[in-house]
Amino acid sequence: MDTDAQTGSSEQTDAGASLGRRSLLGGAAVLGLGSVALASPAHATGVGPSSRSGRGRFHGRSVLITGATSGIGRATARAFAAEGAHVGFCGRRAELGRQVEREIRDAGGEATYVQADVRVDAQVRGFVDRVASRYGGIDVAFNNAGIGGGRLPHELSVEEWDDIQATNARGVFLAIKYEIPHMLRARRGVIICTSSSAAGQARPNGAAYTASKRAVQGLVKAAALAYGPQGIRVNALLPGTTDTPFVRPPGIPDADWLAYKQAWGPLNVDGLERMAEAEEIARAVLGLASDDFPYMTGASITVDGGSTAGRKMVQPRGA
Ligand SMILES: NC(=O)c1ccc[n+]([C@@H]2O[C@H](COP(=O)([O-])OP(=O)(O)OC[C@H]3O[C@@H](n4cnc5c(N)ncnc54)[C@H](OP(=O)(O)O)[C@@H]3O)[C@@H](O)[C@H]2O)c1
Repeated sequence: MDTDAQTGSSEQTDAGASLGRRSLLGGAAVLGLGSVALASPAHATGVGPSSRSGRGRFHGRSVLITGATSGIGRATARAFAAEGAHVGFCGRRAELGRQVEREIRDAGGEATYVQADVRVDAQVRGFVDRVASRYGGIDVAFNNAGIGGGRLPHELSVEEWDDIQATNARGVFLAIKYEIPHMLRARRGVIICTSSSAAGQARPNGAAYTASKRAVQGLVKAAALAYGPQGIRVNALLPGTTDTPFVRPPGIPDADWLAYKQAWGPLNVDGLERMAEAEEIARAVLGLASDDFPYMTGASITVDGGSTAGRKMVQPRGA
């Protein structure tokens, strides 16, 4: 089995590095794939008729999401809106934010984009308070904004280290800090924070990223203990490699990417050796945010096709 693919279960640096070290078509050929068309699952759009009927699980609930201009956050915003939620979300790229807002409204849902950078204290506070005031509090918060970055520890600049921690760890802290007072007033709420399967499995070039995602897990546990008595549940979600701009190298042709991502994850459970779709991660978020798991808090929920479950059996040749 190919070495890059063996080591690769996690994210930008692994996917990018793996793609960079061999030609895409060559890599797909090594893995026995040509240009494979990957059908979009019918349920994957995330915006459906339930938003029109108003009968979704989150009908009328206020949902806040950081980092929903793209990828997992965008898919989750669409999915919540499709189930009747009022979604307030942020990201730095205003054009993309307005586009996601429009997509949701055109489908009959309710959403508000607020331009905010999770590294900036005042902007996070302003964003959270604006969503709470527009939608009458915060029932669910999905603290998801994050960036990657891959270098060996001695090559990583102090600025890069700080930026990754400021976005992935301090950004989640700031969001929780300003969400909690709204939830305490209501004496209820659900918070889900995006960590990563990379939190428990380091890569040589993943020091800053793994440290930041491990920090999220620690923060989640402390917050679960602190606010459980007030009816607030806090959990971490650990996605495995997911097809978003986070891992997709810019400019790569669709056919090459489809072939590559379908052959991703040889360490995943047999039959799931592929990248996750953002919509699959979104469904896990909605499940955790729903009323179906009142007993679950302080947990780290992994959704990674089994890539971190352990080692698969390797049969000796001829066995
Ligand atoms: N894709 C994967 O394989 C994977 C696996 C495990 C975990 N994750 C985690 O999942 C989360 C979402 O990633 P993704 O895959 O959906 O990547 P993505 O498509 O690149 O989305 C990242 C989102 O975070 C936002 N963001 C980044 N820095 C921000 C900042 N300073 N302030 C506000 N928003 C910011 C981005 O918006 P702007 O650029 O517009 O600000 C964007 O909306 C991240 O925390 C990532 O670490 C991803």
